Amino acid sequence: MVSGGGSNLGAILDAQECGRLSHARVVLVIANKPGIGALGRAAERHIESRVIPAEDEAGLLQALGDNRIELLLLAGYMRRLGGKTVERYRGRLLNIHPALLPRHGGPGMFGLRVHRAVLEAGESESGCTVHEVDEELDHGRVLAQARVPVLPGDAPEALAARVLKEEHRLYPAVIDEFALRWRQRVQEGVGS
Ligand code: GRF
Repeated sequence: MVSGGGSNLGAILDAQECGRLSHARVVLVIANKPGIGALGRAAERHIESRVIPAEDEAGLLQALGDNRIELLLLAGYMRRLGGKTVERYRGRLLNIHPALLPRHGGPGMFGLRVHRAVLEAGESESGCTVHEVDEELDHGRVLAQARVPVLPGDAPEALAARVLKEEHRLYPAVIDEFALRWRQRVQEGVGS
């Protein structure tokens, strides 16, 4: 699920094409609004996409069900998910956040604001976090983090670019590992 440029989506699709995503396959890209870069990336790779406004939870659940979606991945999705979606996908719903949670997450912490907050706090390092999604923003179980240094004189944009590079490496790797575990659990009869 996407709301923006979709560079993380691009990294996931690159991993898929290069065989680094062997336990999952992206079958549907959902955007909450039309005209965003992420939809262009999906189209270029011939991945099916849908635009579903965040308010239309019934439509979202229908699309997820129709496409038999097992893992739901947020990749720069800027809207809160409805409670029914969180409930249905609990334990198989992931997000990536551009900071080392639990630091610098929660309401208002998105885009360059995150990196400004990191710099203002005088942190010596930042990074990104892949976590499970629950009802609270940027709060679910942390699955993995990657760290980058904060350099003297860093501008938010420079820090954002350094973190984003790590996001593109971390997220596909975590998704693949998570999908493998999910598959094993389904085979054992859990969550089916
Ligand atoms: C990333 O920084 C991600 O951590 C955050 O939103 C941004 C999305 O960027 N959740 P992109 O659309 O994947 O380029």
